[in-house]
Amino acid sequence: MQAEERAVTGVPGFDAMLRGGFLPRSANLLEGAPGCGKTTLGMQFIHYGATHGEPGLILTFEQFPEQYYRDAAGFGWDFRELERRRLLQVIMSSPEVTKADLERFNGRIAGLVSNMGVKRILVDSISQFERMTDDPVELRNLLHGFLNALRREGLTALFTREAYVLLGDEQREEDETESSMSFLVDSYVMLRYVEIESAIHRAIIVLKMRGSAHDTHIRQFEIGPHGLVVQEPFRGREGILSGTPQYMAESFIKAFVRR
Ligand SMILES: Nc1ncnc2c1ncn2[C@@H]1O[C@H](COP(=O)(O)OP(=O)(O)O)[C@@H](O)[C@H]1O
Ligand SMILES: [Mg+2]
Repeated sequence: MQAEERAVTGVPGFDAMLRGGFLPRSANLLEGAPGCGKTTLGMQFIHYGATHGEPGLILTFEQFPEQYYRDAAGFGWDFRELERRRLLQVIMSSPEVTKADLERFNGRIAGLVSNMGVKRILVDSISQFERMTDDPVELRNLLHGFLNALRREGLTALFTREAYVLLGDEQREEDETESSMSFLVDSYVMLRYVEIESAIHRAIIVLKMRGSAHDTHIRQFEIGPHGLVVQEPFRGREGILSGTPQYMAESFIKAFVRR
């Protein structure tokens, strides 16, 4: 038995990578290129919680709530019904309004936490926080304050973040949000496109998990009719880590990564 219950994500194969799930009240970063499956994994985490005694919030800065209802329905998750049953709430806001709300005593999010018993939050995506300031120190303080406010509410948080790297392990320009976030969060998970023998595969890796053992393999995953399913580790893992997979032609990337 685990000393502490985990926040089970409900993503087959991924929970095993996390040795049971996220740590309760932790902040978790999920990074990947557009179309990789970040929002899907996040919705799956929220859906599993809402149907297993852990009501959830989806805080979005980009997409309208209707888009979540529609996308979730495609995987068989009835978000409207969960909202009716007060097990889920989709909130569209801005980083500025969210920051002010969390600083207020008994703000909207705090109210939902106490009224609905919210335990989980998906923030889709943290990339919008970059807009708030050009100053790296200020940005870091902003992110730190945001993460702490959610932790204070007792929430297990999942933050998505757009990565503009599509394939391989080329020299990435580490920007400020990335370095701040990966340092501040308790776990850091990356989704990747990997090209093997002219076919594109999706890959997932847990880069860090504070206070816990975790799977260090790069695993393949698929997005099926009920969401993500994580599979076996890639063979020829060294090849993937060293960037052997070929880069796709620019035009193909554009065609493949529909936005
Ligand atoms: N019902 C579905 N069944 C299988 N795949 C789907 C379904 N709905 C969307 N997808 C796929 O999931 C991907 C979208 O992932 P998404 O989570 O929105 O990516 P991100 O948030 O990383 O940009 C797309 O590649 C899309 O083809
Ligand atoms: Mg998304």
